[in-house]
Order: sequence, then C-alpha cells, then structure tokens
Amino acid sequence: MPGPEDWWRGAVVYQIYPRSFMDGNGDGIGDLQGIIEKLDYLNDGTPESLGVDAIWISPIYPSPMFDFGHDISDYESIDPVFGDLELFERLLEEAHARGIRIIMDLVINHTSHRHPWFEESRASRQSDKRDWYIWRDPKNGKEPNNWLAFFGGNAWEYDEATGQFYYHAFLPEQPDLNWRNPEVEKAVFDMVRFWLDLGVDGFRLDVVNLYFKSEQLTDNPTRYLHVGRAFDRQLHLHDRNQPEMHPLLKRFRQLVDSYPGRTSVGEVTLQRGEDGAVPARFQGDDDELHLTFNFAFFFSSWSTERFRSVIQHWEEMLQGDSWPTYTLSNHDYERHISRFATRSEHETIARAKVAAVMLLTLRGTPFLYYGEEIGMREQRVPRKRIVDPVGIRYWPLHPGRDGCRIPMAWTAGDHGGFSTADPWLPEYARRQQENVETARADSDSLFTLYRKLIWLRKATPALVDGEMELIEDSPPGVLAYRRRLGPVSILVALNFERHTVRMPLDPRDRGRVIFRIVSGTETQEVLELGPHQALLVQAGGGSEG
Ligand code: GLC
Repeated sequence: MPGPEDWWRGAVVYQIYPRSFMDGNGDGIGDLQGIIEKLDYLNDGTPESLGVDAIWISPIYPSPMFDFGHDISDYESIDPVFGDLELFERLLEEAHARGIRIIMDLVINHTSHRHPWFEESRASRQSDKRDWYIWRDPKNGKEPNNWLAFFGGNAWEYDEATGQFYYHAFLPEQPDLNWRNPEVEKAVFDMVRFWLDLGVDGFRLDVVNLYFKSEQLTDNPTRYLHVGRAFDRQLHLHDRNQPEMHPLLKRFRQLVDSYPGRTSVGEVTLQRGEDGAVPARFQGDDDELHLTFNFAFFFSSWSTERFRSVIQHWEEMLQGDSWPTYTLSNHDYERHISRFATRSEHETIARAKVAAVMLLTLRGTPFLYYGEEIGMREQRVPRKRIVDPVGIRYWPLHPGRDGCRIPMAWTAGDHGGFSTADPWLPEYARRQQENVETARADSDSLFTLYRKLIWLRKATPALVDGEMELIEDSPPGVLAYRRRLGPVSILVALNFERHTVRMPLDPRDRGRVIFRIVSGTETQEVLELGPHQALLVQAGGGSEG
C-alpha cells in the first residue's frame, strides 16, 4: 500500500462544495462549522461511515463571489460566510484526528478584480504591479486579438482610465495574472507556503493549463463547427497549454514535495475531442503535478467501448510513475446519475451502481462529488433562482451549473436537514427519495454500496496498488479488467446492459466472489452476469472458495 508520503495514490477523495454541504450557523449557506459537524459521516474510523480519506473543499477564501469563490480577493484568509482562519484550523485538527486529509482549492490563473494586486495594477500604467496582469494597448482601436472568454464575449476588458485592455479568461471580474512576471510566481509560492505551514495536505489547482498564454498573443484559428458557442468554435492553440507551464510545475512540485506527504491535483480543461493525453502532460514524468483530472468520462455516453478507450488511453499516456485519477461528477457539470439516466428509475440507479463499482476499482485515485453517494440528481433551477454566471449569460442554451450545486439532502425533512433557514439555492426537490438518513438505513442503497466498496478497497491492497489489465475480448456490453498484486488477482466484471450476458471465465480468474451487486448465477466456466450486475472475483491469495 502507498506509504504516508504518497497516501494520495491510495486515497478516496470527496469533493465538498462548501456553500451546499452543511450549514452550521443557520444562514442558509454551508460553512466550515457544517463540515466539522459532518466529519463523522465522512469517516469516523468505522465501516459504518463512508470512509473517505481526504476532502477537497472548493474555494473558501474571501471573495466578492461573482464566480462563487473562484474570484479571490485575499489568498490568506477565509470568507466570513464560511468562517475564519481559527475555525479552519479547528477543521484541520478535527479532520486530521479522524485520518481525513484536507485539499484546498488554489485559483491562481486569475484573481478577483477586487484583489489588492489588481486594484494596484489598475491604478496607473506606472504602477509597480501593472505587469502582474496582462495589459495591452488597443489594436486599431479594438481588442488586442480574437481570444474569447469562457463565460462568453471577448476576453479583453477596456479600462477607460488608463486606456488599455486587460485579459480575463473567465469573467471581467476575474482578471488573469501574468505568470511571465517572476514576482507573481514568488507571491503565489509564498502564499502556498503559508497554507503548507498551516498543515493543509494538498491543493487542487483551478484551470492549471491556462496560466501561460502565447507571448505574441497570436489569434486562435476558428474551427467551423456548426454547434456550440463561439468559444467552442475556436481552436484554443494560443491561450492555453503553453510549454512554459512545465518548468513552472516542476518548481511547484519541488515546493510541495519539500513538505512531506503533501499533494496536488490539477484541473485541466479540455476542448471538444481531447482526452487523457492533455492532462497526462501536466504530470510530466511524475515530476510535475502529483495528479490531474481527466474529464473524458464527463463526455462519455453509457457505452463500454467508450469507457474502455478512455481508460486505456489514459493509462498509455501517463509517463513513468504518474498516477491516474477517476471522477464522474463535479461542481461544473451535470451530475453523472442524470447524464446516464434512462426513463426507468430502476435502471438509472442500477447504472449509478455499476459506475460506482468502476470508479472505486479502477487503478487510480477516485474523486467523489458530494451527494453522488446518495444518488442526488441534477436539479432544474427556475430561471429566477439562477445565480451561476454561466446560467445567467447562456440561458436557455445552458442552464448553468446551479443544478449540480443544490444543498445536500441529509434528511427528508425541511430544507433536507441542510439548514434551518431557506437555502441559497432551492432545496433538493427529491429529498423524499434521496437523503442520507434513508440511504444509510437501506442495505440495498447506493450509499451502502459506496460505503462497503470503499472499506473493501482499504482492506484489499490489490484494488489500490495492483496493476490493471483491461480484458479486450469481453462480450459486448461488459467492461472487465483484472487488478493484480503478487499472488492475488481480482477480476472486475461490469455489465452495462439491461439483459443477462455470459462471459467465458479464464481459468486464472476462477475464485470467490468478494463483492457483488445484483445476485446472479455465476458458475465456474462461464460468468453469468445479470442485468447491470457488477462482480469482483478474487483468485489467488490463499483463500479461494
Ligand atoms: C474552473 C472551476 C469553475 C470556475 C472556473 C473559473 O473551471 O472549476 O467552477 O468557474 O474555473 O475559475
């Protein structure tokens, strides 16, 4: 099993969207006090709890909240809506006492326009911090080039007072830092040290592939796709993935590794058609980021061929000891249970179970998104309640991201037990069906499956450390792979279909079933996989049955 220094290879990580996890002070917005109250739910050291090893908390720094914390105005403090530094230190202590590590969000591609660095930079062309951001003169009275902002419109904002444009990859309220200026790197690295000294266990780096833009600010070519937004019709050759990222990430890795047992995971935004090859580059030869997210599953339909090829390519692309991650949902995309849903309620849950078994048995670090363990769905938010800038700008083309950020349903009762007040987003409409209280009591629930599997993983080194071999010739509709460590080999067989599938069993895979969903009639020569059945069969290790 991974040692204390590289615990992150063996961990199950749980993402908390802090505004929506638990409200501890009754103002309708989740906070640090709420997280502390729910730590035992996450892991109390016994298999009665979910058993996660680390939490990644989406941004909790002071912010004017134009992008709900992804626009930071002070990197070394906590926004009062969530608590304060003292409370954060208590959270660290309480989490560590339970063996739960804490991963902070690091949004350093851009700051808030209210960050003192930007206020100083904007003040005059002569400001000492002018060059901390990307300022350019107008070109023929217009924007310096054709780059577009992810949230819509041009990526350049004109500043009347100083007669120049500044660049923002997201909102105008999120000006991009100029990473070509060594003072920026120094200031950010000092801030990173501040959190490492405080004892945080790692960082999630927001849009890490965007920090550098081409020095010449070359125009992006346009791809003539007939679908999507103008942003998606550009090929983003010059506003991301620049080679200068790699030396920077090597320096960042050295800094983080100078504190034993800390980690990092990078969010690498993908363009249409891209996959694991892109994030893999940002892990280098295991000497850049410790981990990166590969979002290819977010764009995968419910197809074993598609899933298999994402996994295979991801494994092929990672260099040296670089380690994969897997994730099905986060705070930016429609929840996967809804993406994979069919008209049948039963089948929708069955698919979520198959997906969970896959997520927790692939070789790599799984990242869970709060609520997925109870099967929370994407929720349609009425237009007048939309607060996400994406939804506000793109409605009805894109309803925005509020639907995956609905407050956690702890109970079937008022406000889902999340708060005593009206929550900041509408409460979870299906809380009668999906809530923690009910799910915990049900031995057949999705929650029970997550919980059991997470604890089985902890007790089964082959599922964590074992090499992985995809079985190429499994029958259509079945995704199967072996995890092997020493004499132990575990076959994972997942039936994505609604009918029974028979899969010939290689003699070396014959053993005892250590985990299953949906009973089936598996035999020795042929595995008979019932509709949406998932099985783990262990051979070797001295305990075949
Ligand atoms: C990342 C975040 C997203 C945010 C954006 C700008 O993609 O995950 O929530 O809006 O960066 O910071």
